[in-house]
Amino acid sequence: MSSPAFDVQSIRNDFPILHQEVHGCPLAFLDSAASAQRPQQVLDAIDHYYSHDHANVHRGVHTLSHRATDAYEGAREKVRAFINAKTTQEIVFTSGTTEAINLVAASLGPSICAGDEILITHMEHHSNIVPWKMLCERSGAVLKVVPIDRDGVLLTDKIPDMINARTRLLAVTHVSNALGTVNPVKSIVATAHTAGVPVLLDGAQATLHAAVDVQELDCDFYAFSGHKMCGPTGIGVLYGREAWLERLPPWQGGGEMILSVTFTDTVYNKLPYKFEAGTPNIAGAIGLGAAIDYLLHIGRGNIAAYEKYLLDYLTDRLAQIEGLRLIGTAPDKAGVQSFVIDGIHPHDLGTVLDHKGVAIRTGHHCAMPVMDFFGVPGTARASLAFYNTTAEIDQLIDALAVAREMLA
Ligand code: ALA
Repeated sequence: MSSPAFDVQSIRNDFPILHQEVHGCPLAFLDSAASAQRPQQVLDAIDHYYSHDHANVHRGVHTLSHRATDAYEGAREKVRAFINAKTTQEIVFTSGTTEAINLVAASLGPSICAGDEILITHMEHHSNIVPWKMLCERSGAVLKVVPIDRDGVLLTDKIPDMINARTRLLAVTHVSNALGTVNPVKSIVATAHTAGVPVLLDGAQATLHAAVDVQELDCDFYAFSGHKMCGPTGIGVLYGREAWLERLPPWQGGGEMILSVTFTDTVYNKLPYKFEAGTPNIAGAIGLGAAIDYLLHIGRGNIAAYEKYLLDYLTDRLAQIEGLRLIGTAPDKAGVQSFVIDGIHPHDLGTVLDHKGVAIRTGHHCAMPVMDFFGVPGTARASLAFYNTTAEIDQLIDALAVAREMLA
């Protein structure tokens, strides 16, 4: 395996947090699927905003309010271009993927009746299960689940038979957070559209790893989070096809989402503000815009190629460990590898690894149905970003040997 041309050391210099010791060992941060780290450029953009430009947006005639509004709306345009939406009206800022999905579930709610069906998959994160379950409980609709196989591949050939005249939405993850599987979402969308069913894609794990083009995917909704793509926490995006966002009612009331209010009548604001009640996370949006600038500067093709190289290296090295079972072996994967080791609880493993400076996530990864499917209480999960190195993977492998000696 040879590394694609990629100056990872210079990239790492942009990430101050990576240069520290944990328990006397160099930090090997292999938990970017839970939350990625931020480059200095993002930290500087947030700091500059709060130090020079902060005021509320869309509300003031004074200079700072104009500057804040320009920066906030500038970030919306960066998001639009990043995912190739047609217009900024289709870009709603939310607090994250979870809120974006809850927004769609809440706004779709009044049009869902008893006996209608919502289709999801067995590999969804809880944030793409629970809002739909809650909607089904409220409305009497039925939740149906597309199965997966033992490699963690979605059985997409089952989808046509699971769709019928009562199917109101298909909600599916672009990339599985627990398994790393990259789903063939373009063809899934085409299948659903053939039957007139709209599709929501959970892109939380996708936007850091590969280019996303919502027009090419032809999806109706696409949800993602800033903090999983080197931006701040507390900011995320719901892309919605304009016709859908026009049709759906707002889900929260307050300032900003109205044009006029009396005690008898309320006129809602135009898109996207209809869905942005209250003072938004202005600094978060600006930080997300800076993260997008940064990722585009590195190059999404370069990021994808380097991560593939790292994932192959990680998978090969893990597979050589006796008694270790890989969970998630689909042919098309992003930089995530879950595993279990015979006789060792994942939490114990994670604790020993932490003492060797290695940060991974252990547990059910907010995807309990995936754990049930594989018959495990949880897994250990190493997840990669373009700032990781093969040396950090070697550090993980060495730490696993120590952990096995102590715990097995
Ligand atoms: N959804 C996040 C993860 O996969 C928190 O770890």
